[in-house]
This record gives sequence, structure tokens and C-alpha cells, in this order.
Amino acid sequence: MPQSVATVPAQTTYQHRVADYWNAERNPVNLELGQIDDLYHHHYGIGDAEWSVLQETDPDRRRQRLTTELHRLEHAQAELLASRLGPLDASDRVFDAGCGRGGGSVVAHLRYGCSADGVTLSTKQADFANAQARARGIDGKVRYHHRNMLDTGFTTGGYAASWNNESTMYVELDLLFAEHARLLRRGGRYVTITGCYNDTYGRASREVSLINAHYICDIHPRSEYFRAMARNRLVPVHVEDLTEATLPYWELRKEAEHLVTGIEDTFLDAYKNGSFQYLLIAADRV
Ligand SMILES: C[S@@+](CC[C@H](N)C(=O)[O-])C[C@H]1O[C@@H](n2cnc3c(N)ncnc32)[C@H](O)[C@@H]1O
Repeated sequence: MPQSVATVPAQTTYQHRVADYWNAERNPVNLELGQIDDLYHHHYGIGDAEWSVLQETDPDRRRQRLTTELHRLEHAQAELLASRLGPLDASDRVFDAGCGRGGGSVVAHLRYGCSADGVTLSTKQADFANAQARARGIDGKVRYHHRNMLDTGFTTGGYAASWNNESTMYVELDLLFAEHARLLRRGGRYVTITGCYNDTYGRASREVSLINAHYICDIHPRSEYFRAMARNRLVPVHVEDLTEATLPYWELRKEAEHLVTGIEDTFLDAYKNGSFQYLLIAADRV
């Protein structure tokens, strides 16, 4: 009997619930921003905001300028992450763990010319992202798969770089980093941008718990990233606290009546009371 190839590794009940969430997800903040230039980011933004958009008196123009400005800040975050993956060239392959609707892999491909494999638990996201890659004519190099990032089935040592952009809070870090360490070649680069709770505050705050409930996730403490990396051949080379840099995005998003999801004040409170941090960690696979 020929051996069948499992394209979708078995998922836990929790992972099915996460998949259901992302299969059903149609938030304007994720779709309207992406429609601007067909780069769909499902993560937050960084950098100084152009506050004059709030002075705009024409309602349609205000709405359009707010959308454009939030997209610019989200794109800046994606570019920061991509800038830490290199140097890479067109012969390299990268792995986008928890790829959403695919923006991060496109950003990496446009920057380096590299090939990319993105994985998501959501079939809807993978189909959407593959359609986008076809429309751009880059589907020969950028591919999205409905797979579990803890158990991808991809080639051992086949990747020069890999990342998680706001997707580590859905998984156990030891299992995740073991898979990144397996996929990365020696000297390969791993990068994550993530929200984590601040050990110096104590345990997870009320706000962190609210964010967990909102997204069906489980935010890890900052310390756990470094412990789990050390256990899995990933040696941090750069750590950047982006908490201050993400505040303008949230302050602006709060004012965008057409895009708010209701979680904006919780994020702002969590960052401001010191219980939550927005972190970039880059590490080398040794
Ligand atoms: C907040 S979104 C981030 C999307 C993307 N990284 C971005 O920056 O646009 C979280 C993503 O993680 C994915 N995810 C969560 N757990 C996963 C798992 N075990 N395997 C693969 N993808 C997973 C979800 O399907 C979703 O696409």
C-alpha cells in the first residue's frame, strides 16, 4: 500500500478552536488595511503616528486617512522584523510560522528575493494568501500551507531564517522552538515580535488575562522566551523593547471608530501599567 502523506498534522481541540477563530475572522482592521496595497498584516504597528489625521473634518477622508496611517504603522513593524532576518538572498528559504493572511512572507520575499513557506491553522487564511501570491505572480516562491507550526513536516535544516510575528502565544514555546531549531540550518536566524507579560510586574495582570480571553491565546512571561530558546539551540543576538514604539498605534486605533475591535483600551492599560511588553527577539540557531 502506498504511504499517504499527511498534509495536515493532527490538531488538538484547542488548535481546532484557534482555527475556527481565524477561519471566521473578518475584522475590518485586518481587511480594510490590507486592501490598500494587498499586504495583509495581522499584527500591530510601531513608530510615531501622523496625528493630524484626527483633525480631518470630512468623515470619509478622516476614515480613509486613519486606515492608511494604521496600515503604515503595521507595515513598519513587518519591515523591522524582516530587517532582522538577513542577510539573505534569492537562493535562501524562510519559514513564516503562524502566517495569517500572508503579509510577512511577501515582505520578506520583496526585501530579499527569498522563497518563503508560511503555515497557518486556518484553511481560509492559507487559501487567501495563496491567491494573493498568485495575483502578484510570486506563487513560485511564496507558498502558504494549512499546517501546524509545531509539526510542519518541512525539510530539516532547509531554512536560512524563520519567524513568529504575534503567533507564539498560541503554542508551548519548547515545542515551537524545537521545530524552529530543526528547520533552521546552523547559523540560521530566528526572529519573533510578540506581546509578553512582564515578570517584574508579577503574574499575568487582569489586562493580560482579558487579552488572552479575547484572542483565545495564552501570553507567556518574558523569561520563558529566553529559557525555552536556551533549551532549543537558539541564542539571542538582539532584544528590543517595542512597548513605547507601539503606543501611538494603539492611541490612534482607539480613535478609528470604523476599525476598533474593543480591545484597544485593554492593550493601552496593560502597556501603561507595566504588566505587558511588546518585544522583538532575534536569535541565532547554533
Ligand atoms: C495574530 S495572527 C498573526 C498572523 C501573521 N503572523 C501576521 O503577522 O500577519 C496568529 C496566526 O497564528 C496562527 N496559528 C496559531 N497557532 C498555530 C499553529 N499551531 N500552527 C500554525 N499556525 C498557528 C493562526 O492561524 C494565525 O494565522
